Amino acid sequence: MGNDDLESNNCSAQLEKVDQCIPPLQDRFGRVFDYVRIAIIEKCNLRCTYCMPEEGVEFADKNMILDTDELLRAIGVLARLGVKKIRYTGGEPLMRKDILDLVKGANNTPGIKGVHLTTNGLLFPRLAKDLLDAGLMGVNISLDTLDPGKFKEITRRDGIEEVLESINLAVKLGFPRVKVNVVLMRGFNEDELVAFTELTKDLPVTVRFIEFMPFDAEQIWESGDHFASANNIVDQIKAIYPGLDVASGTRTEHYIFKAPGYAGKIAVIPAFSRDLCGNCSRIRLTADGAVRNCLYSSKDYNLRGLIRKGCSDDQIVTLFRQAYDEKAKDGFEAKKLSDQKIVNLDGLRQPRTSMTQIGG
Ligand code: GTP
Ligand code: 5AD
Ligand code: SF4
Repeated sequence: MGNDDLESNNCSAQLEKVDQCIPPLQDRFGRVFDYVRIAIIEKCNLRCTYCMPEEGVEFADKNMILDTDELLRAIGVLARLGVKKIRYTGGEPLMRKDILDLVKGANNTPGIKGVHLTTNGLLFPRLAKDLLDAGLMGVNISLDTLDPGKFKEITRRDGIEEVLESINLAVKLGFPRVKVNVVLMRGFNEDELVAFTELTKDLPVTVRFIEFMPFDAEQIWESGDHFASANNIVDQIKAIYPGLDVASGTRTEHYIFKAPGYAGKIAVIPAFSRDLCGNCSRIRLTADGAVRNCLYSSKDYNLRGLIRKGCSDDQIVTLFRQAYDEKAKDGFEAKKLSDQKIVNLDGLRQPRTSMTQIGG
């Protein structure tokens, strides 16, 4: 595990030297942070039950969302701090009108080696070619079921055909990294482990089974019935596919395998069990401009406010350094601290109860 994160794309700016290099972003535990997940929009064209309610979820006003220039400026500063990998998330990032400029801009930033995107796949078919031309290296497509009826149940919308088309098209067009994200839930899609794994027989994609987390805007987590642990998922896969080979993957892909003779890989992400925290290399930026040093922390560092006050790049560096000096050892410690104290800074919204407000 852990060595696929920074594979580079031929069309990236990998060979350029970063001007004004400064010491990399590190924390008290010796972890180095070189991967940023940037939520660029809160809105979404689906309403997945594990993420948000059908109605009533509060989206930040447009003027609260970082614009193209602000995002590319933050990326430039992060690249000086040693960041090499960018992932745009949301909400649904392809709903953003400037998505191609954001991909191109990040890709042209000296020091950035790969630009990636996590999408629900609905708008991908019409944008895929332009995204590839803009230099997008990887696409993670969310799909939790292969059954059209269940798709409608979980997302409260139609669209499974577009999502399946997106997966095939991403492979056909030759994106270097294509992945399928499946949030595995007991009593809902656990019976589709084999069907999803079989996608990797002919397709060179990584299918990733993700633990369900309590960021669902108080939808279905509370019932306690749907959580399936990573260990349990790994045991099930090993029982069905004896002789699995251990494969290489990114740091998120804590468990990763390949069935002998299959084109793709299968990974299991312990997002709730948090076995991956010791290996954490990620920085998070919410769509409304808050730096979060951990998915399980509720402390916001107000980048938007700083930028809009006319700050210098060095002040942005200081904000990121402060956030990462204060990073907890793991997601359990971060959650404990957050339960004691919710910090509300200058108009940033608290609490954030949905993945779409935190950044998926
Ligand atoms: P790769 O770079 O391809 O490994 O992607 P990724 O896993 O970093 O990104 P993606 O957007 O596809 O996220 C997949 C899942 O990883 C999310 O649904 C979360 O469950 C989990 N995840 C993302 N960020 C974090 C994090 O900071 N902590 C934890 N515990 N899980 C996370
Ligand atoms: N638990 C686990 N994963 C979630 N995602 C959204 N909400 C949750 C949740 N409550 C996933 C999406 C997508 C990724 C970015 O986050 O399915 O694949
Ligand atoms: Fe939209 Fe992703 Fe949330 Fe589903 S999980 S509602 S696709 S942001």
